[in-house]
Amino acid sequence: MATERVRVRFRARPADEYHVIVGAGTLRHSGTEARRCLNADARRLALISNKKVFELYGATALKSLRAAAFRVEPFLIGDGERFKNLRSLEQALAFLALAGLERTDAVVALGGGIVGDLAGLAAALYLRGLSFLQIPTTLLAQVDASVGGKTAVNMKTGKNTIGVFHQPRAVIVDTETLRTLPARELTAGWCEAVKHGAAGDRRLFDETVDFLKHESPGKAAAASDGRLAQLIAAHVSFKAAIVSGDEREDVGRMDYRSRRILNFGHTTAHALEAVTAYRRFRHGEAVGYGMLVAGEISKRLGMLDSSELELLRDAVRLCGRLPRADDLDPTRIIGALASDKKSVGGSVKWILLERLGRASIVDGREINARTLRASLRAALQRTS
Ligand SMILES: NC(=O)c1ccc[n+]([C@@H]2O[C@H](COP(=O)([O-])OP(=O)(O)OC[C@H]3O[C@@H](n4cnc5c(N)ncnc54)[C@H](O)[C@@H]3O)[C@@H](O)[C@H]2O)c1
Repeated sequence: MATERVRVRFRARPADEYHVIVGAGTLRHSGTEARRCLNADARRLALISNKKVFELYGATALKSLRAAAFRVEPFLIGDGERFKNLRSLEQALAFLALAGLERTDAVVALGGGIVGDLAGLAAALYLRGLSFLQIPTTLLAQVDASVGGKTAVNMKTGKNTIGVFHQPRAVIVDTETLRTLPARELTAGWCEAVKHGAAGDRRLFDETVDFLKHESPGKAAAASDGRLAQLIAAHVSFKAAIVSGDEREDVGRMDYRSRRILNFGHTTAHALEAVTAYRRFRHGEAVGYGMLVAGEISKRLGMLDSSELELLRDAVRLCGRLPRADDLDPTRIIGALASDKKSVGGSVKWILLERLGRASIVDGREINARTLRASLRAALQRTS
């Protein structure tokens, strides 16, 4: 099957460009890809994963990387957001030291966004920066988290509060890994995919919706005809274009191509996750509701046409069933919205829509309490 290659470039640092390789079975060629992009002196690799993913795909990854003459040492972190913390990071750093990694060696992340974020941060910190490869195994990580160089761990006071930007040397997406992904994780990934299209690319939005209409979200993972790989590659291209124009998410930028537009749906998503103590929603599921809230606000402010909001509702519905949200107290959600990590100068910046494919950054002070409440009420209704 044909493999798609997407180039991620940074105008100011041409040497840091990297490829995202997307296709079925690419994991079996991860050793060749690693050899291609790493320093010729690279000898050791630390393969960071978790037990579940390692049991499924560790052997294939080890075989391919070892066949490319790397010494590979696996290190497994706990499964779940609660392990994306300083303690796991410290353990990972201690492992890199024990494994004797040198400046020319590299870290490989095999897993979802949690493994990728933590492994990327460990790579960025150890010896002031090792090379880093991503092998994302969830849809969310394949279309979004593995590209763009954001790394992080959480603190008790908030998600992703400790991190740096550290771009990978390559990202290897194997669509076959999605076959074992639970349905809820697929739904979460599709929500982030819908986000890309809705916030920045109408054609991508239509392509994603069309794919979901013809393949049920669960079945989509099994599509080996190349259509899934093409769609994932299109999402990667979109994210790559945004990230190369605004790598560090400049808070001074308010335009429709700034990296901040990728936070579409996230203001409410973070609040929903916080008021449910991160126990009810997968992150992408919360983004699904978050996009609907932003859509409702956009409509009420006269920015977005009702018919476009209806298309957004349909798209979120196609992603799969979301956990209920209509029992949550709007006052608590509004309280949590006010402490959004991404607020600037004390005010929340909302990513709203002028139309599907065109986002606009709006100061929270322009949205009155009645509009916000009504939008929450309308959007948090059951989606199916
Ligand atoms: N760096 C970024 O730009 C960025 C962007 C979006 C999200 N994130 C972060 O990503 C994290 C969420 O990532 P996620 O949604 O991938 O969650 P995750 O990493 O927790 O993976 C979801 C679950 O699926 C399992 N899993 C992974 N691959 C599998 C496979 N192929 N088959 C079966 N099970 C598999 C995992 O063990 C886990 O239980 C959050 O911490 C979020 O903050 C980062």
